[in-house]
Amino acid sequence: MKILVINGPNLNMLGIREPDIYGKQDFKELELYIREAAKSLGHDVTLFQSNHEGEIVDIIQSAYGVFDGIVINPAAYTHTSVAILDALKAVGIPTVEVHLSDISSREEFRKFSYVSMIAKKTVYGLGFEGYKKALEYFCK
Ligand code: DQA
Repeated sequence: MKILVINGPNLNMLGIREPDIYGKQDFKELELYIREAAKSLGHDVTLFQSNHEGEIVDIIQSAYGVFDGIVINPAAYTHTSVAILDALKAVGIPTVEVHLSDISSREEFRKFSYVSMIAKKTVYGLGFEGYKKALEYFCK
């Protein structure tokens, strides 16, 4: 399947950013991991990262009629962005949400996710492997 993988703000800082929470591997390693996982599952994957909410809305809109599925780690926008939720609702593309960390056991504000309202599945707390689990959803 044609899958768009979207990573939100500050995920490009992996490796530097709070390694106790997000691990020591950097963003390039994450992208490589996702590409290899997608290949092993037979998916055609496109990767996108942005620190800007509007750019994430734009890429979701442009996925309409092009991609069969979306895997998204909206990062901090998870907890704030009605715009990203609305964009996902607008295009109606099946979406799986991923978080590297266990958002259920961190600060209170991380427990709520707008994207979870539309996501077919949410995977959290598994580090890089969460992206593979998300891609596996599209093998059904
Ligand atoms: C995150 C969790 C979010 O709460 C945080 O703002 C992030 C990353 C994760 O992958 O664990 O930037 O989405």
